[in-house]
Amino acid sequence: MITARAFKASDAPGMRWDVERVRKDFPALDQQVHGKPLVYLDNAATSQKPQAVIDALVGYYSRDNANVHRGVHLMSERATEAYEGARVRIQRHLNAASAREIIFVRQATEGINLVMATFGRSFVGPSDEIVITAIEHHANIVPWQMLCEEKRAALRVVPVDDRGDLIMEEYARLLGPRTRLVAITQVSNALGTVTPIKEIIRLAHRHQIPVLVDGAQAVPHHQVDVQDLGCDFYVFSGHKTFGPTGIGILYGKETWLERMPPYQGGGDMIKAVTFEKTIYNELPYKFEAGTPHIAGAIGLATALEYIAGLGLDRIGAWEHGLLAYGTELLATVPGLRLIGTARRKSAVLSFVLDDIHAHDLGTILDHQGVAVRAGHHCAMPVMQRFGVPATVRASLAFYNTPAELETLASAVQKALEIFR
Ligand code: ALA
Repeated sequence: MITARAFKASDAPGMRWDVERVRKDFPALDQQVHGKPLVYLDNAATSQKPQAVIDALVGYYSRDNANVHRGVHLMSERATEAYEGARVRIQRHLNAASAREIIFVRQATEGINLVMATFGRSFVGPSDEIVITAIEHHANIVPWQMLCEEKRAALRVVPVDDRGDLIMEEYARLLGPRTRLVAITQVSNALGTVTPIKEIIRLAHRHQIPVLVDGAQAVPHHQVDVQDLGCDFYVFSGHKTFGPTGIGILYGKETWLERMPPYQGGGDMIKAVTFEKTIYNELPYKFEAGTPHIAGAIGLATALEYIAGLGLDRIGAWEHGLLAYGTELLATVPGLRLIGTARRKSAVLSFVLDDIHAHDLGTILDHQGVAVRAGHHCAMPVMQRFGVPATVRASLAFYNTPAELETLASAVQKALEIFR
């Protein structure tokens, strides 16, 4: 029996948020699993897609499907216009200075690997250092480890305190003349910690060190302005941002992108090819070898327009209320320990329950209709830091409701009764 107070309007101040109307935009939310209404709380793994995005994909494949930048025929012109139009729409969403700074990649992971392979291989050498944090996703650890091994460079890791907040004095101490790059998440996928990213960038830039921001868990929840942040690189994935899978964005400052060699060789990234020499294409095409994910780009731009239309301030306020309410509800479950209680958090409730394994708990929740992720969340060092093998993670989106959080808490309570 859940005894926390009811969700109140003051949880999301100044809001008129018609969550039931918003939910109607997402066909996948309206279904039953194991005979129970779906409660989808695995948004940090991937988000559901609004009808507008599904329609954009169907529309592209039904009318405009052709290759881009190559054809002389009308359909190819239309596809090119839609693809390049998507780039401009995404540039505006991020407030990048130019569409030349927007590179289409497969997801945040590929964006980071691109920077590792091009910037990293050009500007990092023996005894140089790369600074990351203890709460990075594997995608922002492993590429840098690979580079460090190749270049005999060193990885430096900013520690976190027991709440999951970065220890900023340690960060400041790690920056030095050998630091070639800072690569840090804006929001932790495993804990929900919102890092002080502007301050992180400001301190790095005092030493002329460039900064890459992993925004995979930030763009779905926050307004991101890359010029205001001042970051040198910013990556995110389409599928976590209500867009299609297989598409993501690397933003890079033009001054850096111009100095970096291409990532992959092939079509579209060239101006001229002979057996003696290839002249590379201009930005952004220099980094986009091969036929791109045209439909994905269009779908992602549509998704960003959709969330901008709802209002990112309003999304933030609603999710803030949900997070506070969910935290309070879970606190009523005996034996439940929340992992990650940072001062600023976004959309993640990660927890362990007594000595019940996270996978067992996840399976029991699934049978009650509640979809969560259980495991290490591709962030094994976070689990090691908090001394747990795995957690159950409920991750929120703006279409979740207070009632769904009550279902989550009741389902966890029920699991406890089953195991006792
Ligand atoms: N990175 C994704 C997650 O956090 C898959 O679940």
